[in-house]
Amino acid sequence: DGFDGRGVWRYNVALPFEAGVTLPEGDTPLHRVPRLRESIGVRNLRIKHEGMNPTGSFKDRGMTVGVRVAEELGVDRLACASTGNTSAALAAYGARAGLQTLVLLPAGKVAAGKIAQASLHGARILEVDGNFDACLDIVQGLADRGEAYLLNSLNPFRLEGQKTIGLEILEAFRDDHGRFPDRIVLPVGNAGNTAALYKCFRELVAGGDLAEEDVPKLTGVQAEGAAPMVEAIEEGLEDTRRWEHVETIATAIRIGNPVNAPKALPGIRATGGTAVSVSDSGITAAQRDLAEEGVGVEPASAASVAGLRKLREEGVVDADEDVVCLTTGHLLKDPDAAAAAGSDPEPVANSTEAVLEHLAE
Ligand code: F0G
Repeated sequence: DGFDGRGVWRYNVALPFEAGVTLPEGDTPLHRVPRLRESIGVRNLRIKHEGMNPTGSFKDRGMTVGVRVAEELGVDRLACASTGNTSAALAAYGARAGLQTLVLLPAGKVAAGKIAQASLHGARILEVDGNFDACLDIVQGLADRGEAYLLNSLNPFRLEGQKTIGLEILEAFRDDHGRFPDRIVLPVGNAGNTAALYKCFRELVAGGDLAEEDVPKLTGVQAEGAAPMVEAIEEGLEDTRRWEHVETIATAIRIGNPVNAPKALPGIRATGGTAVSVSDSGITAAQRDLAEEGVGVEPASAASVAGLRKLREEGVVDADEDVVCLTTGHLLKDPDAAAAAGSDPEPVANSTEAVLEHLAE
């Protein structure tokens, strides 16, 4: 189990083990979206759809490594704070390993699909009267007291697994286009992926597998109502200022204190990237744009595409750029947001005649 060299584990030379607790994860599609490419106006646009992982988000790439580490350490209880996806992935990988899992969620702010996953996979779910950042403070407190093994992206082994997003993008893009992408645009919450991608690029450059000038520009996107990373980039800060009040339809990235900011901000700057915030209506429009190409994503994921459109309109992104947008979670994660963004079902009477009449209206 796990020694099949597929997905994430195909890259085990870059990972701390040869194999992990696997379902298996990784090897996600790099979709072409020709109409969206045309309407945004870049040379190439590919969508790396991480929603196609086993539990429907990129978190699986981190958990396959992180839960393996927990097994090695022989811990009793795994824990995380989560806006939803981390809890779903931890519950599934914890179940796979036969370990107890505890998840702390901000009450009323987690999408239905994610709670359903954590619940069915057998996690103990605590709903906290507070936002994600408060949940993370508590879980860190539990870990400090030796009560649980922390599997948020503060855990460096999670980020080792998430590096493979970068490896897959670079390999697949080069195979299809004969060069590496100019830019990778991604949604940012705790900035774990941003930090992981930067580490991936640095290791490739150090090993002589990627030229410094070929490193893609890391471009982070946040929701306007939760944008401490954008503020830090605009003001030249070394760490983010904690936002106490955060709000957005993209509940996955409803985060005011991105814990990986000190690792991610240098990555955005060193690669020549940037950070931008987008409105909730821009996020929903991008979610519809992707859906029209057959790609179903949750709101936080659509932020990457909304951010690219905004940066292209502002002239920050050039028309001749090759861009990859990361979509981090599947549409079914947040069925309520999807239904609200889509069209309503129409009631009809129970006969062919009635249906024909209705269609003719
Ligand atoms: N997109 C989705 C769908 C997410 O679930 C998350 C984070 C992010 C983007 C942000 O990624 O933290 O690496 O910048 N979700 C975490 C969770 C916080 O608890 O599921 P990041």
